[in-house]
Amino acid sequence: MITPILLCGGSGTRLWPLSRKSYPKQFVPLVGETTLFQASAQRLSGAEFAAPMVLTNSDFRFIVTEQLAGVGIDPGAILIEPAGRNTAPAVLAAALYLAQSDPEALMLVAPSDHVVPDDAAFRAAVAAGAEAANKGQIVTFGIKPTHAETGYGYLELISDPGDFSPRAIGLKRFVEKPDAATAEAMLASGNFLWNAGIFLFSVKTMLAAFAAHAADLVAPVEAAIAAGENDLGFFRLDPESWAALDDISIDYAVMEKADNLTVVPFAAGWSDLGGWDAVWRESQADANGVVASGNATAIDCRDSLLRSEDDSLAVVGIGLQDVIAVAMPDAVLVADASRAQDVKLAVAALKEKG
Ligand code: GDD
Ligand code: MG
Repeated sequence: MITPILLCGGSGTRLWPLSRKSYPKQFVPLVGETTLFQASAQRLSGAEFAAPMVLTNSDFRFIVTEQLAGVGIDPGAILIEPAGRNTAPAVLAAALYLAQSDPEALMLVAPSDHVVPDDAAFRAAVAAGAEAANKGQIVTFGIKPTHAETGYGYLELISDPGDFSPRAIGLKRFVEKPDAATAEAMLASGNFLWNAGIFLFSVKTMLAAFAAHAADLVAPVEAAIAAGENDLGFFRLDPESWAALDDISIDYAVMEKADNLTVVPFAAGWSDLGGWDAVWRESQADANGVVASGNATAIDCRDSLLRSEDDSLAVVGIGLQDVIAVAMPDAVLVADASRAQDVKLAVAALKEKG
């Protein structure tokens, strides 16, 4: 059995004003009826999966339980991080927590803010990686790159992925978030895939990887579990021990250093919805490339996303091209589509204004 580990601590500022610090994108129905978090939990349910473990912070704990109940999924455990320390401490806490009951278990670490439209294809990819994971490999999932993205990790394969059928291929190395020139070179070389941010490995393998590559995290996370408390269905990691931890992602702490990496190519569609441009691409656009949702109407527009999340606030676009407009009850974003990645600047600017 594979235990899904759902990470949902991030805040997703590039999808402002819909995604907020208090209610981030994974908990919002961005594409389709269910939220990204619910869709992730559903994708990782079924015969081959144990009940999921969720890692989140105290503010989101009831959103998590409500949204899981909404899709009929019982969590195996919900671990509460006292503060955000990024994904490495979170994954280590999950591994140590699981080790108490099942050190041989496989864990599938998955972000909760991705769109993967074909659940069955994804489960087939997971199945293709399970054997390698049981043999001590850290299995990554590789996406065919379409541009020199600098916000992703890159996976260098020992050989060309060929037809992209799901199978385990050895990896030469893992490069997290390269600069633009390096990303261009990797794209041109053809031997690199994007890291989907989803990982499969055994508890034992990950504990050994932390001991080898990020040993300074081990004692504080062990202490955070030892001094943690059960609280009405949640497990609260101990704040004092947690405060001593560095803020570091699993990509930098472990993946860039590990030499037991494997990749399963995944070609059935994946997006991390890293901005409104990605939401537009993943939504069902009309023949003019327009996505108008909620209380929004587009007249003679092209390649635009118009959205109102407020029933009493109508958004109407006329003759627009390449525009993103998103209205919430208390904020409206209007941006050129080519500047979608700069929406995080809005959040920073508003923060400065106070
Ligand atoms: N519980 C918890 N605690 N979850 C966290 C924390 C934390 O402190 N920090 C981030 N997360 C969650 C986010 O909500 C998200 O679901 C997931 O962990 C990944 O974190 P991101 O911050 O979104 O990572 P990234 O997008 O910059 O990079 C990762 O994903 C890319 C693909 O989307 C890396 O793995 C890249 O290599 C990868 O290409
Ligand atoms: Mg992300």
